[in-house]
Amino acid sequence: ARIRHYKWELKYEYKSPDCYKKLVITINGRTPGPTILAKQNDTVIVEVKNSLLTENTAIHWHGIRQIGTPWFDGTEGVTQCPILPGDTFVYKFVVDRPGTYLYHAHYGMQREAGIYGSIRVALPDGESEPFAYDYDRSIILTDWYHKSTYEQAAGLSSIPFQWVGEPQSLLIQGKGRFDCSAANPPLKADVCNNTNPECSLYSTTVVPGKTYRLRISSLSALSALSFQIEGHNMTVVEADGHYVEPFVVKNLFIYSGETYSVLVKTDQDPSRNYWATTNVVSRNATTPPGLAIFNYYPNHPRRSPPTIPPSGPMWNDIAPRFNQSVAIKARRGHIYPPPATSDRVIVLLNTQNTVNGNVRWSVNKVSFNIPHTPYLIALKENLLHTFSQTPPPEGYDFKNYDIFARQNNTNATTSDAIYRLQLNSTVDIILQNANTMNPNNSETHPWHLHGHDFWVLGYGKGKFDPINDPKNYNLVDPIMKNTVPVHPFGWTALRFKADNPGVWAFHCHIESHFFMGMGVVFEEGIERVGKLPSSIMGCGETKRLLKP
Ligand code: C2O
Repeated sequence: ARIRHYKWELKYEYKSPDCYKKLVITINGRTPGPTILAKQNDTVIVEVKNSLLTENTAIHWHGIRQIGTPWFDGTEGVTQCPILPGDTFVYKFVVDRPGTYLYHAHYGMQREAGIYGSIRVALPDGESEPFAYDYDRSIILTDWYHKSTYEQAAGLSSIPFQWVGEPQSLLIQGKGRFDCSAANPPLKADVCNNTNPECSLYSTTVVPGKTYRLRISSLSALSALSFQIEGHNMTVVEADGHYVEPFVVKNLFIYSGETYSVLVKTDQDPSRNYWATTNVVSRNATTPPGLAIFNYYPNHPRRSPPTIPPSGPMWNDIAPRFNQSVAIKARRGHIYPPPATSDRVIVLLNTQNTVNGNVRWSVNKVSFNIPHTPYLIALKENLLHTFSQTPPPEGYDFKNYDIFARQNNTNATTSDAIYRLQLNSTVDIILQNANTMNPNNSETHPWHLHGHDFWVLGYGKGKFDPINDPKNYNLVDPIMKNTVPVHPFGWTALRFKADNPGVWAFHCHIESHFFMGMGVVFEEGIERVGKLPSSIMGCGETKRLLKP
């Protein structure tokens, strides 16, 4: 195994990813940042220099389990203190499994300012994937706002509440197109200019008659997305670093924090280019589709396809999304069945609430607050007074809570308490969705677990029935993932082994939802965690641990 060494500098710069000029955070001058390329069991070292002048940061390696290095998970307030302006922080971890992963800022709502990128872990030399392809490409989908993350965050924590609204555009590999002429009031050409080469559409060149592995992932701030390539089918073969029993789709539904590999055959008329598009699903968004060019060599990579871009699926048609979720199974020959039973079941009811006049999201009527002293340090060094020691609820009032009714939910609280799990125990999590504070409305929430993969045991509609629904769990060939959606008015059941000593966030990957309290934290085996590096300390009560 090798060492892969990266040096990054984070900076604010004016960029026009969708033709609208705004301050974005770049890594070495770019957003998305550099792709991390490694082989299984390599050690990745990333030196992050924070040149943001007035802003903290922390970077999370999404999908990397950090076995033995829980302090390098990069989750501000959970596993480390923030990296101060001017400081350089060195992350060092092993990528122990092949597959497609991500990285992004994990500090406030900073991810959507542009700090994100791909991690691609290849098999060791001499081993091969259970499917064949000629070329390999990574494509990240995001949604894009013209307001700064500060304006958004301030609005979300204001009274009256100011929602972030729908994104202005969708980006494919960091490129999109906002129609400058449609802006009202009109924008000056130095602010928005559709002929700026910086916002020419992403174009990926393909050779006819080949098979492409496209690693499609989403780090959207809000939107659930569909991705499609005009005239081409996609065979899904990987999800969150695990091999999938192959199935074919025209539209790939993808939620923030998920990664997929699809195989695409370049078997269409080679005399032209094709559109690749992404659309918002699950919200009645005003956001126009994101466009890119699937460029058949030797056509010019910027030549527009002769067709109008295909429209995506209907935003409010839940059935195909639900069906895709259910279709994702572990690939034959690569099945790791889950333990047959679990030691503990935690039901997490997802609701929208008001707490002291603020609009929040909560779990079992508790809205999560990130503490100032990171849990990992507090637990390891016995600073237990730094967060609430009252355990959060294991479930909700199952008998009386109507998940289909609009609730006023004014009785929620905030807390920074965490779930403490027995090391090596098997834990089931039931994510239960419900009506929001608007009538007849329930949203889609992609939940992401740090430090582990979980088995996806099942999805259902309505209220999870603790007696009968577990009888239908897939214990035969469930896929393992690290991010999974809970569909509107539905539930999702997960199982994982709490076998990774550390402290791990589990939260809705929608940037504003986590910011508004939609998350929990698990601890397991803190006594097995090795000596913490002092580089993660310096904030809150951890100051006293640093030698003078
Ligand atoms: Cu990709 Cu805690 O997030």
